[in-house]
Amino acid sequence: KGLKLYDPGYLNTAPVRSKISYIDGDEGILRYRGYPIEELAEKSTYMEVSYLIMYGNLPTKNQLADWEFALSQHSAVPQRILDIIQTMPNDAHPMGVLVNAISALSIFHPDANPAFQGLDVYKSKQVRDKQIARIIGKITTIAAATYLRLAGRPPVLPSKNLSYTENFLYMLDSMGNRSYKPNPRLARALDIIFILHAEHEMNCSTAATRHLSSSGVDVFTAIAGAVGALYGPLHGGANEAVLKMLSEIGTVENIPEFIEGVKARKRKLSGFGHRVYKNYDPRAKVLRKLADEVFSIVGRDPLIEIAVALEKVALSDEFFIKRKLYPNVDFYSGLIYRAMGFPPEFFTVLFAIPRMAGYLAHWRESLDDPDTKIMRPQQAYVGEWLRHYMPINERS
Ligand code: CMC
Repeated sequence: KGLKLYDPGYLNTAPVRSKISYIDGDEGILRYRGYPIEELAEKSTYMEVSYLIMYGNLPTKNQLADWEFALSQHSAVPQRILDIIQTMPNDAHPMGVLVNAISALSIFHPDANPAFQGLDVYKSKQVRDKQIARIIGKITTIAAATYLRLAGRPPVLPSKNLSYTENFLYMLDSMGNRSYKPNPRLARALDIIFILHAEHEMNCSTAATRHLSSSGVDVFTAIAGAVGALYGPLHGGANEAVLKMLSEIGTVENIPEFIEGVKARKRKLSGFGHRVYKNYDPRAKVLRKLADEVFSIVGRDPLIEIAVALEKVALSDEFFIKRKLYPNVDFYSGLIYRAMGFPPEFFTVLFAIPRMAGYLAHWRESLDDPDTKIMRPQQAYVGEWLRHYMPINERS
């Protein structure tokens, strides 16, 4: 009874319809609102792309200026949330800190919480747009405070005169020097990475956004739940896991033994495989090239030789060929982050920042879809059928 519905991991279930992004996993195609990811990565900016994802079209000059202004206006974070970040234990993982800081936003913004204002509060375009600007505007400030805490440094106030990505780098590196300007080529590289990570249809964390918000919970709590899902090593946490894996492998000579271990199922090859892509992840292709650009600025990371050799061995091995396992977005991103000076535990935060656009676009879309219902999957019950209570002294 009910077993025909059994679909572990939702392999065959489409609980939503969406116009935001399209993936053809066999061909290795990814499009945001119809635009190929390669074209956006080459020609666009994260500010344009986040607007496109959110509102359906590339912005006009005025729309872009308004978007950037709104995000900048909302970039300040309540002091008490910065205090929460600062008082976390020294060894707290930045993703754990990020989840807490985002969920704290819910407490600080009761004006946008259906629990207080009623379920209709998000019917207002103004209220929605304000929460979108609040989250995308504040996420870089929160992430920067999380980063600075790792280094034992106090948070830096955002700058209003820099682009979104430059401002993020400014908060990380300026030490409060208001005239500091990040390296424009590195800022552009990070902006491209942000474009590549902005949206990816029903991945685990975006599905979590839809799932949580379907209950009518406030958008901050829904996004905190999504970032919690992203933290997992099988999802966004894979970029950190790749770096650990490459360091453990240590030299190209150790690759064959490592691959044998993967085939013997002792561990997974982090940064490989995907639920949807059964071909090269188009984002990984862009990142592979971008790695060379970043290395030309900051110097070549020796781990890249291991990554390239590992990819070559895996792509010619029957185990990986048969299962259609290719590098995914997380395979090369960590190497770029490391070369840019980010510590591995911060890598997934760098994934979370741009993914806010995807989460919020799905949240917005779900609010407008008359088919949206509270998510409540079925289960296939495989437990005891009927039993009767037995007093404790009669049980054996
Ligand atoms: N290393 C070794 N074997 C693998 C891997 C891997 N990375 N990925 C899949 N397989 C094998 C798996 O063992 C299974 O083999 P068999 O059929 O013999 O049991 C087969 O390939 C199918 O894999 P699956 O686990 O059923 O596939 P899935 O769609 O449920 O999982 C995945 C997708 C991404 C969780 C998985 O490929 C994986 O764990 N990859 C490593 C972690 C990773 O890189 N995650 C990042 C994903 S992309 C960006 C993101 O979401 O953050």
